[in-house]
Amino acid sequence: MNNQERMLDLILGLPEQMAEAAVIARMARLGRRRRFDKVVVAGMGGSGISGDVARCLLSDVSPVPVFSCRDYTVPVAVTERTLFVAISYSGNTEETLTAFRQAMRRKCRMLAITSGGKLERAANRAGVPVIVVPGGLPPRAALGYLFVPLLVSLERLGVCRSHKRDLTEAVGLMAEHRKKWYNKAKPIARALLDQLPVVYSTSRLLDVVAERWRCQLNENAKVMCHTNVFPEHNHNEIVGMGAPEFLAERMVVVALLDRATHPRTRLRLRHALDVTQDGYVRVVRLESEGRSALARLFSLVMLGDLVSVELARLRGVDPMPVARIAELKRRMARRRGVRPDARIRRVR
Ligand code: PA5
Repeated sequence: MNNQERMLDLILGLPEQMAEAAVIARMARLGRRRRFDKVVVAGMGGSGISGDVARCLLSDVSPVPVFSCRDYTVPVAVTERTLFVAISYSGNTEETLTAFRQAMRRKCRMLAITSGGKLERAANRAGVPVIVVPGGLPPRAALGYLFVPLLVSLERLGVCRSHKRDLTEAVGLMAEHRKKWYNKAKPIARALLDQLPVVYSTSRLLDVVAERWRCQLNENAKVMCHTNVFPEHNHNEIVGMGAPEFLAERMVVVALLDRATHPRTRLRLRHALDVTQDGYVRVVRLESEGRSALARLFSLVMLGDLVSVELARLRGVDPMPVARIAELKRRMARRRGVRPDARIRRVR
C-alpha cells in the first residue's frame, strides 16, 4: 500500500476508529463529576480541532460553553471552576504542554487525551486522568481517537447529554456512504485543482467543518485554502471579493450547508454569490447528510477529507508527510532559549 492508499484507507476507516474510541473512552478513569462554568480544550493542529468540533457541536445543546485554546498561554478566565482538557496526539507539542502546566497551576479540573509522549508522563506524574489512544497515525488521521474521547468525557462529567445514539448514527452513516462520498469527492477535487479553494460555512455547526477542510487541504493536498463564515462574510469579505484580479480568476467557492443553516442565511448566500459573481470561478454547494448534528457534521468532514486526498492524487503529492511542520518543530526544539514558562512568570 502506498501513502496515497494508506491515507485514503485511514479516512475511510474513520467510522470504525470512532466506534473503537468510544469503547476506550467509556472505560477510562475520569474521577468524580463536578460543576464547571466552562470547558477549555487546549491543542494544536490535527489535535486542537477536536476542541472546535466540541465547541460547534455543543454550542446549541450545552449550557456550559466550550472554548478552544491554541496558544502557550491560557486566558485569565481559566480558573479552578474550569474543566481543562489537553489534547496532543504525539503528546509532545510544546504549546499544549505549556498551556497544560499553566492550567495545573490555576488548579483547574484536568484531563489529558494523547497517544503517549510527555503529556502522558506529565499527567501521570500529576495524577491527572489521561485517556491513552492508539498511536502511530498522522494526528489529522486520528480525529476519531481524539474527538470521541473528548465528547464521551464531557458526557460522563455532566457537561452535556449523552450522544450515544448520535454517535451510532454517525458511524453507521459514514460506513454506509463512504464509497458514494468518495465518488462525489472526485469531481470536487478536479474543480479545485490549480485553483484557490474558498470554503464558506453557513451555520455555527459547520464552522469547524470549514476549518477541517482547510487543514486537510493544507496538509494532505499541500495547497492554500481560505475559509470564512456566513453571515459574517456579508459584512466585509463580500466587498473584497474579486481583487486582486489574479485571485478572482482562480477562486472556487465551496459552500457548506446544513438544515441548521438559517433560511435567511441561505438567501444571503444566494444573493452574495450573485453580487460577487465576477469574484470567483465557480461554486460547489454541499449539503450535510444525516439526522443528528453529530452525523451531519461528520458527513461533511469525511467528504472534505476525501476531497483533500483526491486532490493530493491529482497534484501528484504524497498526502502523508508534513515536512515543513516537522522541520519547524525540529528548529524550535533546538532553540530552547526563550522558555515560555519563564515569560509567563514575568508577565504575571
Ligand atoms: O497534522 C499535524 O501533524 C499537526 O497539525 C499536528 O497535529 C500539530 O502539530 C500538533 O501535534 P500533536 O497533534 O501531536 O499535538
